[in-house]
Amino acid sequence: MAQRPILFADNPILREKSRRVPRPTPEIQALIRDMWETMRAARGVGLAAVQIGVPLRVIVAEIPEDMDDPDAGTSLALINPELVKVSSEVEDGVEGCLSVPGWAGTVPRFVEVIVKAVDPKGKPVRLKARGYLARVLQHEIDHTEGVLFIDRATEVWPVEEGEEEQEEARAAGGKTQGVA
Ligand code: NI
Repeated sequence: MAQRPILFADNPILREKSRRVPRPTPEIQALIRDMWETMRAARGVGLAAVQIGVPLRVIVAEIPEDMDDPDAGTSLALINPELVKVSSEVEDGVEGCLSVPGWAGTVPRFVEVIVKAVDPKGKPVRLKARGYLARVLQHEIDHTEGVLFIDRATEVWPVEEGEEEQEEARAAGGKTQGVA
């Protein structure tokens, strides 16, 4: 397992459409392990493979256990994730991105989504997500299409960088925090 460098928004690889994964090989499983390690070290709530320079349709998401959210503690690794159904209801929320450090923005997202994917063992999965988890999944699936949250944001602003501020904000605000 290894942490890998995260690409930043000016890197053209982040704008590529990721390729589908034909089947989860040991290499893909190793990639997923590196993604977990990289995401957790960066204190993110989600990561797409393209963010570490691998334009394949693989994402991970993890809602921290200490977050005040119904999905706190949920971890997902998904291969070839796609939105198959979305709610008509849309809500604004605040997002950040490990590839766009120092910035946050208000992004409208579908409140509820159904995602079809394959799990790391190759088993087809279909899951329904609401609220914050649905937001994180939409953010990561966007990465697989070469889309960044700043493309969808209605407003963006600079934020204080540094773990302390992140921790304070997470403790205070819960759902408005998290970079993916
Ligand atoms: Ni992101």
